[in-house]
Amino acid sequence: MISIKSDREIELLREAGHIVYETHQYLKPFLHPGITTQEIDDLAAEFIISKGATPSCKGYNGYPANICISINDEVVHGIASKRKLKEGDIVTLDICACYKGYHGDSAWSYPVGNISSDAKYILEHTEKALYEGLKVIKNGCRVGDISHAVEEYANTYHLGVVKELTGHGVGNHLHEEPNVPNYGKAGTGPVLRTGMVIAVEPMLTLGSPDIYMLDDDWTIKTDDGSLSGHFEHTIVVTDDGYEILTKE
Ligand code: MF3
Ligand code: CO
Repeated sequence: MISIKSDREIELLREAGHIVYETHQYLKPFLHPGITTQEIDDLAAEFIISKGATPSCKGYNGYPANICISINDEVVHGIASKRKLKEGDIVTLDICACYKGYHGDSAWSYPVGNISSDAKYILEHTEKALYEGLKVIKNGCRVGDISHAVEEYANTYHLGVVKELTGHGVGNHLHEEPNVPNYGKAGTGPVLRTGMVIAVEPMLTLGSPDIYMLDDDWTIKTDDGSLSGHFEHTIVVTDDGYEILTKE
């Protein structure tokens, strides 16, 4: 069952989402060559806690860090370490925070210094794919409408769509029903109603969409080493569209 949130719940989800947005804005100026992913993770935790929230990823199924930091061909779930960002990297911060029992979830991929035109391409078009997916959302739409819109945009720009990872419902739990795949058929899947809250999160690649997991049991990379982008917002469905919760 996909739950419909009350106005009070939506207000708390908005506050959680806002904290996630603010955490992104706070971290952005630190994303320069030489900073370690551990330093970024520490700054994130300190900031989230200063807002009265907790980092939802920490301890989730045993996840060891506070946020997910994935570089270049890493698609998701990179774990903080002594590794430093380098000029030309792209780095994805996937940030989840829990405020008064409600979660916000947003991922964003950023350039580190000057990046290649390939890197610019994956960032630009993965972000646009997210908004293409969001565009079709309103009361009565189906999950497959979102999936189809993202996939079609990715196909147009010859980007790989990672199939094994999906968006999801958000609420008291970080991951709720429904799954929101980034590929599929319009007019299929669960119907979305006003008050449902989901995270839409295209994960696209410059090459093959195939992925594998590292020995750390978390970090997921592209098989062929191609760059990956990941953009995610948590939104609430409204009568005639949607409201982004992970926003200003
Ligand atoms: N932000 C991830 C998502 O969108 C969840 C990461 S939590 C982790 O689903 F513990 F799995 F890393
Ligand atoms: Co998510």
